Amino acid sequence: MILFRTKAELARFAAETKRSGKVIGLVPTMGYLHAGHMSLVDTARSRADVVIVTLFVNPTQFGPTEDLDRYPRDFERDKKMCEEHNVDVLFAPDANEMYASDSSTWIEELDLANPLCGASRPAFYRGVTTVVGKLFHLAQPDFACFGLKDAQQCFVIERMVRDLDFQVEIVPCPLVRDEDGLALSSRNRYLSAEERQRALSIHQALLAGRKELEEKGFAALDEICRKAIDSITAAGGRVDYVEGLDRATMKAPTADSREILLAAAVFFGTTRLIDNELVQVK
Ligand code: PAF
Repeated sequence: MILFRTKAELARFAAETKRSGKVIGLVPTMGYLHAGHMSLVDTARSRADVVIVTLFVNPTQFGPTEDLDRYPRDFERDKKMCEEHNVDVLFAPDANEMYASDSSTWIEELDLANPLCGASRPAFYRGVTTVVGKLFHLAQPDFACFGLKDAQQCFVIERMVRDLDFQVEIVPCPLVRDEDGLALSSRNRYLSAEERQRALSIHQALLAGRKELEEKGFAALDEICRKAIDSITAAGGRVDYVEGLDRATMKAPTADSREILLAAAVFFGTTRLIDNELVQVK
């Protein structure tokens, strides 16, 4: 595995790889890798000649009161995991390499990014689309893998790719859970044992919501979300949102909706966790 620390090294490598006609698969991450990330890497490995993983805790997607400074990092462990999964290139720049000190240009998606995490974390998607756009320019991937735990992020990036004509296929990959049902996240490490146990209520509430949504349709959504909020709150969670939106529009579902994103963001202690169920409706 080759390690690159600079944009110039990655861009040169990508250009040479493209010239030789090889397929490049990209997996953008913020590191502190877990089985969810590695499933993205394995998907990329199964389709690409060359797999590039990026490892960059992107400061522009954190708000001023968020956890940028304490975001978990373990470079040596991440590197070993990438080697074990046959990654070809690991790109791990620092923030000064990634952004000019007077950087003043953004990529901003202004529709799908508005609700849910976009409403709670106003800087978030602008930071994500900007850094992902930069990574696409540098790595020139044929496709890029994103996990559906961050379903809204996936949809926002798909829209950015469509609107700005990036020649990159977005490959959404299934959310990966721990055996007890907790969605895998680098932030799970902040949870105490008790908080972690209580946090299982998120998945349980969303599963109950999925069942009811499948049975009753979107007309029951308000009641479904209220019940989910009540049960998560009873387990000690501070709910940021539980909402059901049309997957295609990220707006309130209508009779034309085919798939609903039932999504939750909840604090246990100071840790904000997200989870979701994608539900087909008739
Ligand atoms: O999902 C993430 O880890 C990040 O938002 C991403 C896509 C790597 C951009 O920094």
